[in-house]
Amino acid sequence: MANRMVLNETSYIGAGAIENIVSEAQIRGYKKALIVTDKDLIKFNVVSNVTDLLKQNDLAFVIFDEVKPNPTINVVKSGIEKFKAVGADYLIAIGGGSSIDTAKAIGIIINNPEFSDVRSLEGAVVTNNKCVPIIAVPTTAGTAAEVTINYVVTDEEKKRKFVCVDPHDIPVIAVVDSKMMSSMPKGLTAATGMDALTHAIEGYITKGAWELTDTLHLKAIEIISRSLRSAVANEPKGREDMALGQYVAGMGFSNVGLGLVHGMAHPLGAFYSTPHGVANAVILPYVMEYNAAYTGEKYREIARHMGVEGVDNMSKEEYRKAAIGAVRKLSEDVKIPKTLKEIGVKEEDLHALAESALADACTPGNPRDTNVQEIFEIYKSIY
Ligand SMILES: NC(=O)c1ccc[n+]([C@@H]2O[C@H](COP(=O)([O-])OP(=O)(O)OC[C@H]3O[C@@H](n4cnc5c(N)ncnc54)[C@H](O)[C@@H]3O)[C@@H](O)[C@H]2O)c1
Ligand SMILES: [Fe+2]
Repeated sequence: MANRMVLNETSYIGAGAIENIVSEAQIRGYKKALIVTDKDLIKFNVVSNVTDLLKQNDLAFVIFDEVKPNPTINVVKSGIEKFKAVGADYLIAIGGGSSIDTAKAIGIIINNPEFSDVRSLEGAVVTNNKCVPIIAVPTTAGTAAEVTINYVVTDEEKKRKFVCVDPHDIPVIAVVDSKMMSSMPKGLTAATGMDALTHAIEGYITKGAWELTDTLHLKAIEIISRSLRSAVANEPKGREDMALGQYVAGMGFSNVGLGLVHGMAHPLGAFYSTPHGVANAVILPYVMEYNAAYTGEKYREIARHMGVEGVDNMSKEEYRKAAIGAVRKLSEDVKIPKTLKEIGVKEEDLHALAESALADACTPGNPRDTNVQEIFEIYKSIY
């Protein structure tokens, strides 16, 4: 069987990368951008870094700033209306996963209007046409949505988040510029960074993992583990390394899938609007424990790449404990909450959350097959 790899056509990675947006838009003959973003990013002058460049170079744009964390079907629909109303021909997504995912959904539906209800895009739906060209500029170092073939939409009515997987949604250009991330407050840096670590770990142990993606995930684990603390301290080198580490994780997991941590994190986003990274970070060590016996030697490599010394002389039990311990330590150092109760989860919801987690598109990738009762028990143990 051949393994498929889908990656951006072009990517720019490094401080100052946004300068390249101008020449790319000019060379490709793009006429008018719809910028998909949120109001906070305008307020914090993050978006203006890009719009100033566009203005200086007479590149037309209109801003759509209605994105909210855990973006909803309605946000996507109003973005589609805006895109049509202003006569845009490409999208520039500026923001975290929420803005980039919203742009993907808009771009897919513009070119595949038979999916205008948005819901029918859930899962591995293959659309007929590539989405409108997207230039994706992440402002968090976490989701890697700029390089993934996934996007996540919240269905408020049905109280669930659904994952859409479609190679047609991948941004044509990823512009990963750590300067766009420097305004992130500590808590957001920590949470989105732990999301990236979760991608790397789940992508490494997921059922579809193979040698090439293993290489990417182990490198990502190494970069993220050594640089997240420094990024939280807002040191430029830490920011730059996190920007790279999360992108490398995205190159991997996008092509092989994730697992139960994401499956269990998505319902928290849908029920309580829990920030995605926080939900993952709280759940990650518990699901690592649950999965340990199904991962062969992989936790030895996770521990090694997280900087644990002496892993070659450790027993299976020791290196598994060491890997989970290193994740817990990093989480603690960057001040991630420890229990579901602390982040506002209600005990009476645990069963409904477990059912939703089992139905999530990420869950089948988990190395250990699971069921509602076992997921419920994991939630309970984290509560
Ligand atoms: N497409 C994928 O492959 C993929 C992968 C993982 C997660 N996701 C999805 O992405 C979403 C989460 O994205 P996220 O964690 O990047 O956060 P986000 O996009 O939801 O943003 C969270 C908050 O951070 C603020 N923010 C973002 N960048 C900032 C900056 N530089 N300075 C100050 N504030 C800033 C935003 O304004 C927003 O209020 C979830 O919906 C999640 O399910 C998608
Ligand atoms: Fe994630």
